[in-house]
Amino acid sequence: MKQSFFIADAEKYIGKKITVHGWVFNKRSSGAIIFLHVRDGSGFLQATAVKSEMDEKLFSLVNDVTLESSVEVSGVLKAEPRAPGGYEIAISDIDVIHLVRDEFPIGKKEHGPDFLLTHRHLWLRSRRQWAILRVRDSITRHVQGFFHENKFVRTDTPMITPSACEGTTTLFEVDYFGQKAYLSQSGQLYLEALIASVGRCYDFSPVLRAEKSKTRRHLIEFWMTNAEAAFMHLDEALDIEEALIKYVISHVLEDNTAELKLLERDTTLLQKALSKPFVRIRFKDAVDILKKLGSDMTYDTDFGNDDETMLMTHYDVPVFVTHYPAKVKAFYCKRDAKDPTLALSADLLAPEGYGEIIGGGEREDNYETLVKRIHEFGYTEKDYDWYLDLRKFGSVPHSGFGLGIERMLAWVCKLEHVRETIPFPRLLDRFKP
Ligand code: 4AD
Ligand code: MG
Repeated sequence: MKQSFFIADAEKYIGKKITVHGWVFNKRSSGAIIFLHVRDGSGFLQATAVKSEMDEKLFSLVNDVTLESSVEVSGVLKAEPRAPGGYEIAISDIDVIHLVRDEFPIGKKEHGPDFLLTHRHLWLRSRRQWAILRVRDSITRHVQGFFHENKFVRTDTPMITPSACEGTTTLFEVDYFGQKAYLSQSGQLYLEALIASVGRCYDFSPVLRAEKSKTRRHLIEFWMTNAEAAFMHLDEALDIEEALIKYVISHVLEDNTAELKLLERDTTLLQKALSKPFVRIRFKDAVDILKKLGSDMTYDTDFGNDDETMLMTHYDVPVFVTHYPAKVKAFYCKRDAKDPTLALSADLLAPEGYGEIIGGGEREDNYETLVKRIHEFGYTEKDYDWYLDLRKFGSVPHSGFGLGIERMLAWVCKLEHVRETIPFPRLLDRFKP
């Protein structure tokens, strides 16, 4: 069996006989005419059988095909604007590879999220999930495209680590042959070592956080791309982040018009994010705005999800919030020389209520100060001895950031919940399938 035709290339085959390999995702019949809707992964096509125009045996084969059966179906291709995908073949041959005997669990009626998540392995076949998967693929490709065009080298970081990067409360502990180890929350600390080799680098991997949060933004396992650059201060890091987001969005808008249309995504605000500079405000000013909007937010606590959402209903382009109170940020953050209660960190918040998609900032590069922070945070110096070494041997100002792929995808596709952004979501109450 050789798959030499893909529906995505249909335009080039008009008037020609083609063979599609795929699954039947919809079937309509009037008795005299049967429409099979077939998907092959690259697109969607209508395969039509007219009783009066074909062999009886062939017509009955088509008639017996059930939903989600896999088929090899041939016919002459034509454009048909009314068909899903815009193309149609008149069936001249069909080979049913696997005839489904059971009723496919996911039907046309509305299913609740619980049912859909339980059947995630089958739910992924829906056109909506197909579109999301393809936008995800684009985002991951273009993120890497941007890095390569900007001298960042991909350097991967370990999944198993001896110490915390993002606080001890969300660590997953594993038994490493009798020793306590943790699953990576972020590869950042390792990238800080790698910059002294390659200058600018990034990683791309799943990370894990034992987050007890059940929100529309939190996954337990999610994909992050961390980037780190030597000789870079906070403002330059923000320039890179802004250029990255604009690069990815412009490519997705170009490559994924069909998918975004299928998802009924109004892209006006994505276009706007491309054409305008992102807003940059300090945390303190963001709190002032929130207070005016009626929030009881204070100047020394971090934003909650609702605060971010509230803030982001007021902007129609992404917003960098900088200079957070140091105590709500991680131990490695460099402090503002003018006000050491503030961290030189920045989060990028996405509009349309999406909130934080990037976290990052400048890193503490002084050995003594970093030792002090490690103690202040209640960590053990010995766990970070290798990380401290980096401040002993050619320490340089450096900055970096981490982009959450699922958060970015949720915003780009305007999804209600991150559970749809990853093929097999790990949520607080679910790790199957
Ligand atoms: O803000 P975070 O925790 O930052 C870091 O991990 C830094 N070490 C990154 C760095 O500076 N290199 O996480 C980065 C991003 C967030 O902005 C968010 O997009 C995403 O990761 N993220 C999550 N996405 C889904 N589910 C969760 N539970 C997430 N936690 C963080
Ligand atoms: Mg963060």
